[in-house]
Amino acid sequence: GGPPPPRPPGRGRRSGAAGLGERTFVAIKPDGVQRHLVGEIIRRFERKGLQLVGLKLLQASEELLREHYIALRDRPFYSRLVKYMSSGPVVAMVWQGLDVVKTVRTMIGETNPAESRPGTIRGDFCVEVSKNVIHGSDSVESARQEISLWFRPEELTCWEDTAEHWIYA
Ligand code: CDP
Ligand code: MG
Repeated sequence: GGPPPPRPPGRGRRSGAAGLGERTFVAIKPDGVQRHLVGEIIRRFERKGLQLVGLKLLQASEELLREHYIALRDRPFYSRLVKYMSSGPVVAMVWQGLDVVKTVRTMIGETNPAESRPGTIRGDFCVEVSKNVIHGSDSVESARQEISLWFRPEELTCWEDTAEHWIYA
C-alpha cells in the first residue's frame, strides 16, 4: 500500500541527459519582492508545468552574492549589483523539469528589460537592467553550482508530481 516512491532526479523516463530531472536556480530579486511580484512569478512557472523542489525567502549576505556573481567580478557594475541584491529579501527557488534551464531563461527574457519581449517576466514587469526583478541560471553547469551555493541538499524535496503524466508524453 501507500503511494509509489518518488522518482529519483535524472532517472526514469528520458534517461541519458538529465531529462525530467534537470534543475535550475531562480531568485526573485529585492525589487521583485518589494513590488509584490512573488506570487505572479511563481504562478507563471507553476502553470507552465515546472516542478518546484526548493523555496525560501532570505536576506542574502554580500559574501554569498559576491560568490554568486563571481564571474562578473571585473565588470563595472559588480559592486552595485551586490549592493542591490543584498538591499532586501530575495526568494530563492529551485525548479525542475525537461529543459528547465532554457525554458526559465526564455520565460524571464533578456538581461536588459528593454530588449525583453512582452510576455516575458522582464518584458512585463521592469524597465532597467539594474532592477530586472529576477535571476535564472544560464546553463546546467551554473545551475548546479548556484543550487549548491544557495541550498543545502536537505532543503530540496523530491516529490511525485501527479500532473506529470498530463505534462509529459
Ligand atoms: O541576469 P542575466 O544572466 O540575464 O545577466 P548577467 O549578464 O549574468 O548579469 C547579471 C545581472 O547583473 C543582471 O541580471 C543585472 O541585474 C546586472 N547587470 C547590471 O546591473 N548592469 C549591466 N549592464 C548588466 C547586468
Ligand atoms: Mg547571468
